[in-house]
Amino acid sequence: MISATISKMTARRSSTFYNDVMDGLRAENKYLPSKYFYDETGDRLFQQIMACPEYYPTRCEMDILQHQSARMASIFTTYSSSFDLIELGPGDATKSWFLLRELQKKHADFTYYPIDISANVIDWLENRLPVTLPGIKMQGLNGDFMDKMQQVKTFSSNPKIVLFMGANIGNMTPLQATQFCRQLHDNMQPGDLLLIGFDLKKHPRTILDAYNDRQGITRAFNLNLLTRINRELDADFNTDLFEHYPVYDPSSGACKSYLISTAKQEVHIGDKTISFRENEHIWMEISQKYTLDETDNMSAASGFEPIQVFHDTKNWFADVLWQRLP
Ligand SMILES: C[S@@+](CC[C@H](N)C(=O)[O-])C[C@H]1O[C@@H](n2cnc3c(N)ncnc32)[C@H](O)[C@@H]1O
Repeated sequence: MISATISKMTARRSSTFYNDVMDGLRAENKYLPSKYFYDETGDRLFQQIMACPEYYPTRCEMDILQHQSARMASIFTTYSSSFDLIELGPGDATKSWFLLRELQKKHADFTYYPIDISANVIDWLENRLPVTLPGIKMQGLNGDFMDKMQQVKTFSSNPKIVLFMGANIGNMTPLQATQFCRQLHDNMQPGDLLLIGFDLKKHPRTILDAYNDRQGITRAFNLNLLTRINRELDADFNTDLFEHYPVYDPSSGACKSYLISTAKQEVHIGDKTISFRENEHIWMEISQKYTLDETDNMSAASGFEPIQVFHDTKNWFADVLWQRLP
């Protein structure tokens, strides 16, 4: 019994989640990787964030997908009549659903590969999409973007179209985003297509409000990661002693969310102790905003050529279509 408990603890400690959390909390400026927001509760809270009146990005991108999916599908099927459609971080695929439906209407021969770190998301999509999109060929992959991207490219030699929507790319710094796109480039063939959703720079207040909703759902979403660490890594964070603090810097376009420790305190993670000073912060997430010039520069720096921009009616969001250069 004791040895079973010890081996379970050892397995936990060696987990990537544990190592990433410890690396972040031992850093001089504490941080936690935002990809761990998405457990079952995190998925549900993110659905609620998307429905908040202040959270405009989802409505803007929905406007694009609802009204311009037919045009996107035409471009895709002109590129190739048969392809693999890979979606990185689809969530509930509410928006990409419109594109999938248009592709079906055009009788495109494609297999849909959603890749998501949340097992819950992949299970849900595998149950739901064959019902709402009868006949869809799909295979969900649960794991990290690039690990699964490397796996999926070995499945077939078909041309690839990669979707990276929902301003997911904004959860990386501009440098990380460029490196990430370069890695995508290296896993794609010349001519393959990449559709990326970028949230654009706009009035700073509009942006800040989107990450500071009045109902406190974004606050709960951030604090949920501490609760997840308590549950999965035997920790004892008191979430009442952390405050949600988002900031937006209009010159850099970085919107960052922090949790502020409201007291001097010690938190235990297994048998390790992490000390917090009063007012010390944990950097939880970046949501980077861009201009179209900046996205064009990123495409050039990562080996793609921009071929089309799809805007919402307010011009607050852009789904940009890039083609992989040789
Ligand atoms: C902000 S949500 C966006 C969902 C959807 N694309 C949309 O626009 O509504 C981010 C999604 O990406 C997934 N995700 C975040 N980081 C990931 C990573 N490193 N690897 C795989 N999936 C990730 C999350 O689980 C979540 O489903």
